[in-house]
Amino acid sequence: MTKTIVRSFSNEAIDEAAAIIRAGGLVAFPTETVYGLGANALDPQAARKIYAAKGRPSDNPLIVHVATEEDAERCAELTETARDLINNFWPGPLTVVARSRDVVPNDTRGGLNTVALRMPDDERALALIARSSVPIAAPSANRSGRPSPTTASAVLEDLDGAVDMIIDGGATIRGVESTVVDTTTGSAVILRNGALAAEDIERVVKLSEIEACDVRRSPGTRYRHYAPQVPLIAWDRAETSAPVIDPAKRSVFIGLGEPPSDLRSPISLYIFNDVENYARGLFSAMRSAEHEGDLIVAELPDISGIGAALRDRIIRAAGAK
Ligand code: TXA
Ligand code: MG
Repeated sequence: MTKTIVRSFSNEAIDEAAAIIRAGGLVAFPTETVYGLGANALDPQAARKIYAAKGRPSDNPLIVHVATEEDAERCAELTETARDLINNFWPGPLTVVARSRDVVPNDTRGGLNTVALRMPDDERALALIARSSVPIAAPSANRSGRPSPTTASAVLEDLDGAVDMIIDGGATIRGVESTVVDTTTGSAVILRNGALAAEDIERVVKLSEIEACDVRRSPGTRYRHYAPQVPLIAWDRAETSAPVIDPAKRSVFIGLGEPPSDLRSPISLYIFNDVENYARGLFSAMRSAEHEGDLIVAELPDISGIGAALRDRIIRAAGAK
């Protein structure tokens, strides 16, 4: 157990955090998507600490966060597809999977010959990477399998004593993780839907569907994810059949409008006026709901835009593969 220091963002806090990263320690920091659990991406021992702190399987690789395109070039061989995406969407919620160079240790890339790279659109994250002078490997800063953290207190809830320092930057803007795109072949393949919509990616590069045999290229999709401590039912408003809910359960509704009619008296409601706000609030609503009730009903939004990522998170939180 280490003592976890929580600091608001300031130049001094970033200096202190960068010193921890350089010494091989762990720092949680805000990005525009969710909080990341960072360590020196080029130090295998530091990378191993991330897996241990999260309880993460060692074959589920980490995203390497960079502050410049040159940093990315040093870590991976970028194809034309990768460059087109980077030029259009960095800094931003896009993670590019590319063929790794030897400088990135095996532990960081979970034994794969590819590496995932992202330049976050958050000045605090970029300052930390630049001040550390190394790329920072960072998965979401939650215990493995839990909803991703969108606030410093959610990080503390999961990782108090397991991380050296947390930079508190308030609630994150986007609320769901980056979109992960494989760029190692001629066309781009979305491995994980995220905050950057497929429709936007498609305007820049040709997108191919992920094939069943390619699921191995996206190790994270094999594991259960985003699960709150109480059962969650995914509800599609477009379906005529209402979810079957035990009336004795104290239920919490999260969604975009009125709860289903037979959810007679939810003890708590989290209702968002559009899908962007829903994305921003979903994970923190799940974390609050698990303290309030014994069942969560979460509405599945329409599949367009960021809705695809939200549907994926809700279906996984419900326990479906
Ligand atoms: O927005 C985000 O992406 C956040 C912030 C902190 O940047 N990070 C994040 O990391 O969500 P994580 O570890 O929770 O999810 C990374 C995903 C996993 O599904 C992992 O399997 C996949 O990216 N991934 C990482 N490296 C990969 C690689 N070389 N090939 C295929 N998938 C990879
Ligand atoms: Mg994660």
